[in-house]
Amino acid sequence: MKKVVITGGAGFIGSHLLRRMVNRYPDVTFVNLDKLTYAGNLENLLDIEHKPNYRFIKGDIVDGDFLTALFDAEQFDTVIHLAAESHVDRSIANPIEFVMTNVVGTVNLLNAARHCWNGNWEGKMFYHVSTDEVYGSLGEEGFFEESTPYDPHSPYSASKASSDHFVRAYHDTYGMPVLLSNCSNNYGPYQFPEKLIPLAIHNIKNSKPIPVYGKGENVRDWLWVEDHAAAIDLILQEGTTGETYNIGGFNEWKNIDLIKLLCTIMDKKLGRPEGTSAGLITFVRDRAGHDLRYAIDASHLNTSLGWKPSLQFEEGLEKTVDWYLANEEWLDHVTSGTYKQYYQQQYADR
Ligand code: NAD
Ligand code: DAU
Repeated sequence: MKKVVITGGAGFIGSHLLRRMVNRYPDVTFVNLDKLTYAGNLENLLDIEHKPNYRFIKGDIVDGDFLTALFDAEQFDTVIHLAAESHVDRSIANPIEFVMTNVVGTVNLLNAARHCWNGNWEGKMFYHVSTDEVYGSLGEEGFFEESTPYDPHSPYSASKASSDHFVRAYHDTYGMPVLLSNCSNNYGPYQFPEKLIPLAIHNIKNSKPIPVYGKGENVRDWLWVEDHAAAIDLILQEGTTGETYNIGGFNEWKNIDLIKLLCTIMDKKLGRPEGTSAGLITFVRDRAGHDLRYAIDASHLNTSLGWKPSLQFEEGLEKTVDWYLANEEWLDHVTSGTYKQYYQQQYADR
């Protein structure tokens, strides 16, 4: 029976990926390895936590000895690596944590897998989940392709770029079977409300200012999170070992236009007069080194494996708003830190 370890499974994307994989592949065991940082919340997984093919292990990928012992004991044959510090603003405030988890943690995982697999690569795979931010910033024109040279600007993207290079180095040097994907901005349920969309939903609901950095002219390419999970699943099943796949939504939005659309949806959903939410838009100091535009060319994934996004953005955004409004308890727990106290107590001795 196959055994897959998914790191960072208690986070935003990891929890969607686990839900998909645990339900789709009942004969495969999935182990969720997560440190439960502020961003890791097992409430994201309540609907699958009792499934027989799912297990949670609390652990820190920065601890190399722990990982080696874990791999020896569990004999995973597949690693899907999502655990990371993921928020750009936090990386500007505290870069070293990003170096530790994103770079050292990734190399520790590669080492643990290499030690455990011991040159027997048959049936093994190390899948590394990365970001389009490694490619840097675009002007008005052009797209990031898989061959675009790396040019990271934030401590977050520099740490992810470094981790990507290490994964490729383990493939080229030791022959480890690897896959990589670089994805654009995800949105949807269970995203921590420090990221633009859930932060804005939360603030609008509470009639608080919506902080828009600079003039709101920066452009991001948004993808429904379940489409990212579907792409990872497809690449894992059918991707060519050693290759990189760009994943994106073909869906570029200026931040200010996105926020205005969100305001319109929120006014409707909350039964407030049109224009109420837009009145909360507040332009604030720009993010340091703020990348102007990201745009992914996902045609390699589309033509080679047939993947394409399933949802139109307007529909996905409305679904996202509906989810946050229907899951006030989740949002309250996250914003108050209640979830953290609960799970930290429950796993205190691990
Ligand atoms: P997230 O911040 O929501 O979740 C990260 C998870 O990793 C959390 O559960 C956290 O507890 C865990 N973690 C952090 N440090 C750890 C450590 N030292 N040991 C073990 N677990 C640890 O992140 P996300 O938005 O779900 O992103 C997941 C991955 O996808 C990241 O690698 C990120 O770089 C990448 N990515 C994210 C996006 C996006 O839009 N969110 C887009 C492209 C790629
Ligand atoms: O592109 C993929 C990346 O997308 C992922 O690798 C990262 O993990 C993920 O956090 C995300 O990075 P961004 O920096 O693009 O996401 P964020 O939600 O922080 O910001 C989106 C845009 O909105 C960005 O241009 C900054 C702006 N912004 C953000 C916040 C939090 C604001 O204007 N105001 C805000 O309060």
